Amino acid sequence: MLQKFDSRNADLKVFIKDRLYPRDQAKVSVFDSVVQGGDAVWEGLRVYPEGIVCLEHHLNRLMASAKTLAFVDIPTKEFVKSAIDQTLKANGMTDQTHIRLTLTRGEKITSGMDPRLNQSGSCLIVLAEFKPLVYDNSSGIKVISSSQRRNGPEFLDSKIHHNNLLNNILAKIQANVAGKDAGLMLDHRGFVAELNGSNLFMVKGDTIYTPFAHACLPGITRGTVMALCERHQIAIKEADLSLSELYNADGVFATGTMGELTPVIEIDGREIFADDALMKRILTLFKTSIRSYCEPLT
Ligand SMILES: Cc1ncc(COP(=O)(O)O)c(C=O)c1O
Repeated sequence: MLQKFDSRNADLKVFIKDRLYPRDQAKVSVFDSVVQGGDAVWEGLRVYPEGIVCLEHHLNRLMASAKTLAFVDIPTKEFVKSAIDQTLKANGMTDQTHIRLTLTRGEKITSGMDPRLNQSGSCLIVLAEFKPLVYDNSSGIKVISSSQRRNGPEFLDSKIHHNNLLNNILAKIQANVAGKDAGLMLDHRGFVAELNGSNLFMVKGDTIYTPFAHACLPGITRGTVMALCERHQIAIKEADLSLSELYNADGVFATGTMGELTPVIEIDGREIFADDALMKRILTLFKTSIRSYCEPLT
């Protein structure tokens, strides 16, 4: 298993709704919408001493997801920033920290699907944990393609960063059964969408490609990589990519807040070389510039 219990997280303080609770008392009601229907939106944030990577982008995506799902009493960005600040200070966290920011539709007056049953506003959860990057980015990961498809906009818009993660969890289970690190998910047409928890890029010749964000989450790290390519005059294209194109790429890498940039060294048993010069260049550019994307909370 990739992630292990970190004893530094034994006595965490967690922000829920309007105040901090010790880890063993950090709970939401059984009437909360996240329990009832996975009815919540979320963001993963990474903390460096300089601040939080792409904080404004993450807050914008959280707000946009909540608006799309018609949440009411959505907290302001200032409130969310203050809750994050309180949580990090209470836990003494300034580095090697990952925050799971969740906004649920809140508590219902009785169990049921109808959002009109939610009459006490949305509920913000700030769960900060000491968590270094989850992958060993020097050795890379092995993945397997999954039979479980990502939703396209005809089913559930991938622009919403919601908690209905069952497709992705099923893909991860398939990867676990196969003894691989992640499940590669296709869209409903059979083109590559993303890994079960991160976006995908491939290098071919002097160009970097990534799937259109039709069926993948438009990841913030994905956006940073695309912007870095543009800034450094590296050709970057969104495209429909097939599995065969990935098997025969010069390099493939995954992107996400949890693991940052991770070489993919095997897909369905086909070896993918991790020594491509252009791929190494973009990995280095990201590593050396990530702290310039950090935004302080105050
Ligand atoms: C399904 C999925 N894809 C991709 C990502 C990577 O997105 P980001 O770069 O914003 O962390 C995530 C992260 O939450 C995710 O859940």
